[in-house]
Amino acid sequence: MIGMKTVLVLFGGVSSEHDVSLVSAKSVIENIPKDQYNILCAGITKDGRWLVYSGDVSKLPADKWLADEALLTPALMSPDRGEKGLLLLSAAGIERVPVDVVFPVLHGKNGEDGTVQGLLELAGLPFVGCGALSSAVCMDKAVTNALADAAGIPQARWRSLTEFDYQKSGAILLEDAADYLGFPVFVKPANTGSSVGVSKAKNRMELFEAVESAFAFDNKVVLEEGIDGMEVECAVLGNDEPLASVPGEVVPCNEFYDYDAKYVAGTSELHIPARLPAEKLEEVRASACKVYQTLGCSGLARIDFFVRHSDGAVLLNEPNTIPGFTAISMYPKMFAASGIAYPELLDKLICLAIEKWSKVKK
Ligand SMILES: Nc1ncnc2c1ncn2[C@@H]1O[C@H](COP(=O)(O)OP(=O)(O)O)[C@@H](O)[C@H]1O
Ligand SMILES: [Mg+2]
Repeated sequence: MIGMKTVLVLFGGVSSEHDVSLVSAKSVIENIPKDQYNILCAGITKDGRWLVYSGDVSKLPADKWLADEALLTPALMSPDRGEKGLLLLSAAGIERVPVDVVFPVLHGKNGEDGTVQGLLELAGLPFVGCGALSSAVCMDKAVTNALADAAGIPQARWRSLTEFDYQKSGAILLEDAADYLGFPVFVKPANTGSSVGVSKAKNRMELFEAVESAFAFDNKVVLEEGIDGMEVECAVLGNDEPLASVPGEVVPCNEFYDYDAKYVAGTSELHIPARLPAEKLEEVRASACKVYQTLGCSGLARIDFFVRHSDGAVLLNEPNTIPGFTAISMYPKMFAASGIAYPELLDKLICLAIEKWSKVKK
């Protein structure tokens, strides 16, 4: 239809969360209002190839889309602003496919961390979600924590450790961190998501093991004081004037919200709204907006907190700039509970991307 905008949905990616992205992207593609937008789908394989996919979206999960070569066309995203779209590399030669706006549905490294966002900024294409700087800042848990401290946002005590320093003087540094943080300590690679590489250490022995396994994913790890609290999440939407959703609560089915509790076991409980007094819900919403603005977010982010059992303190856990996005994921569900249905939410996100781009000083 003339006047319809073309949305390029990016999925997959070179990330430990590749498979989660496939499931999120399937829902996004199914729910983008088709009377308003044409959809172009491009998958990024685990080894980083870009392929335009013209087949059925139900084949995204578990990478089944890669099976039908006739429906795949290698493609390039050029940083050349003259192109304004994707370059398809077909047998007939190079074909330019114009794109109006990009929706990166990529979780974790090489997608949620500012890399793809930087490419899209160079390419001069509006895109959904946070820009390169904010995406990178929110991806790195040590940088996020440092900025939150600087802004006076309450959070767990923490330390970060590089692999280089660990190899030089790991024993002393871990001893010192354990004294400062107490047990249990949560150990996380600085730049993963979906709880990949995260562990809970209850003593010095486990702390060493946890740090070693986190270094398998990143050469910087973050150690945090374990918080005994309710896990509360808040979805935020907007550019200059962010809107916070009704907060939700996650009750992990395991000892903490690990990969299995998130995606495999299927028995973690979700409560929307979180089972907290109204004033506490308001405090979470206000804090979510403060975090969002402190970290320079735009478009969307899900901001996760702990509400500590002992004193009710609202403590930042982490921001997620491309949160899980299936129809049953917390971000869309929290906005559904706040009166914005999933297709409308996607439309708003696309409009926010275009609005933001219109204000960028080029
Ligand atoms: N400081 C902490 N205290 C208590 N639990 C924590 C802490 N940090 C992380 N967790 C647990 O580990 C999970 C994953 O950690 P998180 O920082 O959210 O990493 P990811 O980016 O992988 O989701 C959290 O949802 C929570 O269950
Ligand atoms: Mg998390």
